[in-house]
Amino acid sequence: MIPVNIAERLARLSPSPTMAIDAKVKSLLREGKDVINLTAGEPDFDTPEPIRNAAAAAMERGETRYTPAGGTAELKRAVVARVKADTGLTYAPEEILVSVGAKHSLFNAVMALVSPGDGVLVPVPYWVTYPEQVRLADGVVEPVPIAPERQGVLAVEDLAARLGPGTRGLILNSPSNPSGAVISPDGLAAIAEFVVDHDLWVLSDEIYGRLVYEDTVQCSIASWPGLRERTILINGVSKAYAMTGWRIGYAAGPRPVITAMANLQSQSTSNPTSIAQAAAVEALTGNQASVEAMRRRFDERRRYALGRLNRIAGLAAPSPQGAFYLWVDMHQWIGREIRGRAVANSDDLAFLLLEEAGVGVVPGSGFGVDDHFRISYATSNDLLADAMNRLEQLLGSQ
Ligand SMILES: Cc1ncc(COP(=O)(O)O)c(C=O)c1O
Repeated sequence: MIPVNIAERLARLSPSPTMAIDAKVKSLLREGKDVINLTAGEPDFDTPEPIRNAAAAAMERGETRYTPAGGTAELKRAVVARVKADTGLTYAPEEILVSVGAKHSLFNAVMALVSPGDGVLVPVPYWVTYPEQVRLADGVVEPVPIAPERQGVLAVEDLAARLGPGTRGLILNSPSNPSGAVISPDGLAAIAEFVVDHDLWVLSDEIYGRLVYEDTVQCSIASWPGLRERTILINGVSKAYAMTGWRIGYAAGPRPVITAMANLQSQSTSNPTSIAQAAAVEALTGNQASVEAMRRRFDERRRYALGRLNRIAGLAAPSPQGAFYLWVDMHQWIGREIRGRAVANSDDLAFLLLEEAGVGVVPGSGFGVDDHFRISYATSNDLLADAMNRLEQLLGSQ
């Protein structure tokens, strides 16, 4: 083999830490093993029919060529209208960039904002991608643990405790993956004031913003005074419209940052798929009833899964107010044995649940917390019930 040196910036990039368990779940499923997969970060619903039809119609019309690199004018207008409806904020089309999924929007934003050595506050638990993207940009990840009494909801005091001389920005994710925690309007107001006082920028990942439960109020931090000009709001169609495979995300923010992001995109991926953009126009501007229908189904499953899970020995989860995950505290199992196998951390327990009970969960290690795991309840009621029965059988009830 010809020796090839991998560039230093990629040599230090970790593959997704959830890959090991993911590979194991998939190989067991391929072998036809009886496994219930609760690891997926995506809705189990099909993309609603009007959205699929819009893609087919675009294809028939011959919309199969390059579009402007940062998205079609029509989709940018649709994003402007959707952001206005969701947050009350008014953006110009020049302040919008459409990318290949929200992950790509985040990547463009991190590349545009983070200079070498810049500190970025990243609340823990974090979505696995944030620290890796910051490191890729030669930034310094400043993890922000959330005080235990806050049940996973970030508060300004947590941020203040971690602010350093080199801190330049904050990555906010409410509702959160993996915890489902949602920061209240009062909490966001205090964080907004802190951000202005310390002259930080904010990357606000609001991809789960349409999926909130009970009387939870979803707000964008960009709507507080002084925040619009220092916030990049990130969203997309993957979660709310069951469109993970279509790969459409977007960013809204101050024009100079959006322009820098668009320049990067024009020299890397160019435009997101033309047909997927046409589908996203229908998703964002068409009848929103399917979003509410899916949200209600998620809510039923959330209540069911939470009730069952909190009766299983040694496990506990707070009631998540958004997204479609339970963030399960398993610290009581650490240092103990299950069927003769030692549990030292979340990876051990995740492999054990998979191999002994046939239930796939994501260990918390990848999210920065090694005594938790994540369950996705974006699966059928029957499978959820079966999974909870299996966990209860293996671990016992309380
Ligand atoms: C918090 C968070 N942000 C962004 C994304 C990426 O979404 P997309 O499919 O639009 O790239 C995900 C997907 O899992 C996510 O959980």
